[in-house]
Amino acid sequence: MDMTHNVPRAELSEWCYLQGKAKAMQQSHLRDLAHDLDRNNQLTFRAGSLLLDLSKQKMDISILKGLVKLAEAVDLPKAIQGLLSGETVNNTENRPALHSALRLPVTASLVLNGQDLVPAVHDSLAKMSDVVSRIHSRQWRGFSGRAITDVVNIGVGGSDLGPFMACQALTEFAPEAANRLQVHFVSSIDGTQLSDLLGSLRPETTLFILSSKSFTTIDTMSNAHTALQWMLKDGVDKESVLAHHFIGISTNTQKMTAWGIPESSQIVFWEWVGGRFSLWSAIGLPIALKVGMANFLSMLAGAHFMDEHFKTEPLATNLPVLLGLVGVWNATFLDIHAHSILPYDGRLKFFPSYLTQLEMESNGKSVDKSGQPVAYNTCPVLWGEVGSNAQHAFYQLLHQGTQAVSCDFIAPVRRYKAYPDSGEAHKSLQSQHQLTLANCLAQSRVLMLGDASTDSDENTPNFKRYRGNQPSTTLLLDELTPHTLGALVALYEHKVFVMSVLWDVNPFDQWGVELGKKIADKMTQALAGEAIDGFDASTQHLLKVIADITAGGQ
Ligand code: F6P
Repeated sequence: MDMTHNVPRAELSEWCYLQGKAKAMQQSHLRDLAHDLDRNNQLTFRAGSLLLDLSKQKMDISILKGLVKLAEAVDLPKAIQGLLSGETVNNTENRPALHSALRLPVTASLVLNGQDLVPAVHDSLAKMSDVVSRIHSRQWRGFSGRAITDVVNIGVGGSDLGPFMACQALTEFAPEAANRLQVHFVSSIDGTQLSDLLGSLRPETTLFILSSKSFTTIDTMSNAHTALQWMLKDGVDKESVLAHHFIGISTNTQKMTAWGIPESSQIVFWEWVGGRFSLWSAIGLPIALKVGMANFLSMLAGAHFMDEHFKTEPLATNLPVLLGLVGVWNATFLDIHAHSILPYDGRLKFFPSYLTQLEMESNGKSVDKSGQPVAYNTCPVLWGEVGSNAQHAFYQLLHQGTQAVSCDFIAPVRRYKAYPDSGEAHKSLQSQHQLTLANCLAQSRVLMLGDASTDSDENTPNFKRYRGNQPSTTLLLDELTPHTLGALVALYEHKVFVMSVLWDVNPFDQWGVELGKKIADKMTQALAGEAIDGFDASTQHLLKVIADITAGGQ
């Protein structure tokens, strides 16, 4: 029987069992659990180069088993097979979410509506590969005949965050041909990033990639318009500019054509790829340009490895399932509303901001799949930063604030294996890496245990005490490579799906962002001086203040 749509989650006996366990667990401290030496064996799991350590979570093996039982009760295995096989999991937009199809090997097949998707996916990869090789080999020339030196990706949200994060993470893997090329990212609607950048670029050697699933997002289209005007400023022929300096990546060929991008410079992807899941598609072109096509393919292979693990591994040892179950345990049962992502590696600086979209846009929902309000907390607020930097910024709150916060500590174990300079600088970098790992382990330990030695010491003032009891996950990568990054990102994608199944929400739509876009249209008219009815007093007042200041400044 498919229980997922019959019994509300909170009425399942497995749910109630966990509520009871959570009540008891709220009364205990992580210190009480830490003594159990068997914990590490029971709560540490591996998939390829990734190790997931849940031993600092506020749970014991009975709770983990209870969570797995809940996953079985809501038929998570069936949901996973449905996701990966192309079922219409995005019920409000009536389509599948097949980002996993983008990383299938060429020998695989996945039939959707009678059509095998894999050949089209690999055709698109071939097109990307061709573009990358023409740019890297300096055959792609600008209007004046000079080779391209700078590529600017114009996109926002999923058409920006994933490629940007991966480019920063994998820079050191760039082959020599890619090293000659600068890859830049522009997303903000106000034009600041673009205007800062344009000052240092030359139109004749700059190529813009317009990345937008819809090709209608105002942020991207307004930056694209400015970029085109900048290209045309010296009276250069528009057709030549459009032919040599703009690539379009979208599902919407009509809009790309209407904008002026020739068909030969368009790379399409498909409606069944969600925006925040699209870095594996042609939206990943900046990654391939930055680190080479071979490394991009290696990322896809890493993600595919995780897909296979997700598909075949039993729930109790399945990394994305476990990560998702722990996320639900913390947010819903233990009532922890904040979650911090703390990579101990500067290369993963933008991984937290990438995850904020992935998790909060996916699971920031309060209505279940049948349209009813949910009776429990869903996605927590996520934020994060490179862990060692965050220690000097917001860890104070983690250690002594009033909020319960769960954390993910992420660190590669090996680093600087083959640093080009093997002299003293190399040794120094190696020791810096050890220092990073030491800090990572120290912080998760203090967050777990606090400082029990001061508990009974009357001489320690309260402001020097550490209560601990903040749960965390430690995720170790043997090392950070394109392959392990691919696996890591897919791990979180599937974690998000697992949580959505447990919460019975649709993680693949984002209706919550629509109203603001509509009102912004009206607001634009109001700012241009049109009389618009129906604004509230607060907004009217601000419009007037802006109009007055603008008039005064003219
Ligand atoms: O407004 C939210 C959103 O639709 C995201 O889901 C998406 O990643 C982003 O805007 C950009 O959309 P597009 O790729 O269509 O420009």
